[in-house]
Amino acid sequence: MCGIIGYVGGGTDGDKDGTASDGGGETVGDIVHRGLTNLEYRGYDSAGVALVGATSGLTVAKRSGEVDALTVPDVPDATHGVGHTRWSTHGPPTDANAHPHTDCVGDVAVVHNGIVENYETLKRELSAHECTSDTDTEVIPHLIEDELVADPDADLLAAVQRVEDRLEGSYAICAVREGDDQIVVARRGSPLVLGRGADATFVASDVTAFLEHTRDVTYLEDGDVAALSADGVAIVADGEVVDRGTETVTWEADAAEKGGYDHYMRKEIHEQPEALRQTLAGRLDTTSGDVDLDVSFPPGFLADVEEIQIVACGTSNYAGRYAAQLFEELSGVRATVEIASEYAFGAGRSPDRTLVVAVTQSGETADTLGAVRRANAAGARTVAVTNTLGSTVTREVDNTAFIRAGPEIGVAATKTFASQVATLAMLAVAVGRDRGALGAAAARSVLADLQGLPGAVQQVLDEEPQVREAAQEYQDSEAFFFVGRALGVPVALEGALKLKEISYDHAEGFAAGELKHGPLALVTPATPVVAVLTAGARADETMNNVTEAQTRGAPALGCVSADDEYDTLDVSFDVPEVGVLEPLVANVYLQLFAYHVANEKGRPIDKPRNLAKSVTVE
Ligand code: G6P
Repeated sequence: MCGIIGYVGGGTDGDKDGTASDGGGETVGDIVHRGLTNLEYRGYDSAGVALVGATSGLTVAKRSGEVDALTVPDVPDATHGVGHTRWSTHGPPTDANAHPHTDCVGDVAVVHNGIVENYETLKRELSAHECTSDTDTEVIPHLIEDELVADPDADLLAAVQRVEDRLEGSYAICAVREGDDQIVVARRGSPLVLGRGADATFVASDVTAFLEHTRDVTYLEDGDVAALSADGVAIVADGEVVDRGTETVTWEADAAEKGGYDHYMRKEIHEQPEALRQTLAGRLDTTSGDVDLDVSFPPGFLADVEEIQIVACGTSNYAGRYAAQLFEELSGVRATVEIASEYAFGAGRSPDRTLVVAVTQSGETADTLGAVRRANAAGARTVAVTNTLGSTVTREVDNTAFIRAGPEIGVAATKTFASQVATLAMLAVAVGRDRGALGAAAARSVLADLQGLPGAVQQVLDEEPQVREAAQEYQDSEAFFFVGRALGVPVALEGALKLKEISYDHAEGFAAGELKHGPLALVTPATPVVAVLTAGARADETMNNVTEAQTRGAPALGCVSADDEYDTLDVSFDVPEVGVLEPLVANVYLQLFAYHVANEKGRPIDKPRNLAKSVTVE
């Protein structure tokens, strides 16, 4: 996700105290630029800075590409500045879309992380302003400009407070203004942390950005707006000045990059509630039951569509298998899933009545691109579901739905699986609504489950100690079998894939009904069976199969709907009620289980042997 850094303190020129707390002999531009370098690990496609000089005013520099390629302007009298690494969500990674964004007269500059959900409405209200980018962010400096014109006595803090009242969504904002010696920041839903130096103040998306300068930090809370000066900060919440206290960070830089987690994978597992919020932001109309994914089809296409073919590899393929069942249930269209490397546009199908959905986190997987090319050559309509703006797949399909999960660095996919399924579920609702196959009430119920997803995933994350204990108990098993039915099958496959990828243990996933048709021969007291026993996964029937394994001595672990109970399980993980999305929530237990088994064994979790994050060869 995007990274923010801000610094106010005037830099140091060597004859000041030169302590680490104020940056020691660096200009404001140097400090902000290094903050950006420290944020690079988050993943980004563009970078920029805004520096404010006592007499030179506001200077902005930004461009697509690497932080190293950004020339930070020389502003010797700069007193403060902000910087940003952008990871595109609205508009491709171009120079114009890079942050900071400015108002019409170039007095105000803003950097932003998150999504302003109502930016289209706000942009219409700003018709008198000249907007020059595709971003949602750009409305913010223009709204601030309006506030400052309407009330010339207002300071930047007051203007940002008023603008904040008009923004919907989840975001973190930093604003600077020519002639104003403060940085004003606001947080709602996206992280912001303040660094408290001796005579300097920092703000960033995470402490990594400024850890070399100060370890004393203040975490802002949702709804906080703060004015930062070299002397300190004033934090306002609900119109009152508040004290959020100060903590001392004890992590080393390497751990801080991972937000204090030992591995990116665990960090990314824990980012799922936030990633899902971004996936869903601004896309659900819970009154009408409709979904706006910004994916359009020619008139009449969906009414006539005969088949949805999903093509994908690895974890994305399992997200596709989950989605295929949702497509059939919610849109009434036959849906199939192909391993992308095996895909061929089969005989007897009508290309003009086929929708091919390519699911790929990276948008660069060669096998998936090959499948898209074969679908295009056959004349089918193609849609990509991807995490990466500007990726190759987006240029080769008719339409793209972005999953907006933020960059994923761990090789084993985690948060992107959840966001892929959520995006595909929204697409299934959209197709069902368009075809008249899904009534408003039924659609509203699915949307309510989608809205419940971030909270449900958080509840599972809160149970991590229970999962760690189970991982410790069963880590030395000979093999692990993951089973489920219906929507539990793709989750069983994904649970087994995750475990084998990072722990190197033998793990297999399959439909629970198949246990007795072969794998049961392998079941012993040393082979735990892990089952998905939730709504949408035919839990009672699956439990019968689990019992068959238990009879052969296998320990049984189950992810069970909160309103259900299976007394004979050795370990039972509670899954909050979210209808057809419960198996997806159960998957978070399986991610944590895989993580902790691998961690107990000291495996290189973020970079498992022989595997790559993005496989660009066929
Ligand atoms: C590689 C990765 C997997 C991923 C698969 C598909 O094998 O290691 O984690 O699921 O590629 O990647 P994609 O970017 O197309 O989703």
